[in-house]
Amino acid sequence: MAAKLLGVVLAGGQGSRLSPVTRVVNKHLLPVYDRPMVVFPITTLVEAGIDEVVIVTNAGDIDAFQQVLGDGTALGLKRLTFAKQQRAGGIADALLSAEQHANNRPVAVVLGDNILGASIASPTRQFQADPKGALLLLKEVEDVRGLGVVRFDMPSVAGAALPTVQEIVEKPAVPPSNHAVIGVYFYGPDVFDVCRKTTPSARGELEITAVNNAYIARGAARFGVVDGWWVDAGTFEGLHRAAVHVAKDRA
Ligand code: G1P
Repeated sequence: MAAKLLGVVLAGGQGSRLSPVTRVVNKHLLPVYDRPMVVFPITTLVEAGIDEVVIVTNAGDIDAFQQVLGDGTALGLKRLTFAKQQRAGGIADALLSAEQHANNRPVAVVLGDNILGASIASPTRQFQADPKGALLLLKEVEDVRGLGVVRFDMPSVAGAALPTVQEIVEKPAVPPSNHAVIGVYFYGPDVFDVCRKTTPSARGELEITAVNNAYIARGAARFGVVDGWWVDAGTFEGLHRAAVHVAKDRA
């Protein structure tokens, strides 16, 4: 039987790149065209067959999420729970807040500001069949600034199989490729140990890129490329771009 994945949506943080709009509203409750942002990552998971989701967010924001999402059944969820993010300690630190909810199960983690026009059903099935290590999703984009970017062992050729990924470089000054790591990550139940073993970066955060590089270093990372559009809606430019995509898809 395929492993049952717990969906984890990371929806905490300060949303500083969207200040002053985020001074009183959690970033993930801002509208992307006609819905609150957090609805999109949840729908991405539900459409891939994942019907149990935990939302990790700031303690003071949980009430607002509950008012917007109810018990989650309207979105197709069987179970919706919340975990408190203790501090602004980075994505890997936020993920640790979901450890008890995961209770030794593999997880599908989506960053709450990642909006996808494409389905993740196929990588979800692939990971469910072998729910160990990490399965990371990539997207070739023109402008990789501000993202995690992969370094391949040889140049990638359109239409050919992906070259081997040697490492991920977080927000590189000189990008080693145009393949960005999007905020959708599948991990085996060991991910929480891997997070704990990660050393904080220069900005004092537990980076998800350090976690992913730990899997790559031990040969336990697989990669897939997503079709369709993908936007990190964590900036005003991204928020606008995501809304335009959603409006077009609804037309
Ligand atoms: C995070 C990750 C980065 C990834 C991006 C996708 O960056 O650290 O590797 O490419 O999400 O949205 P953030 O947007 O939190 O700075």
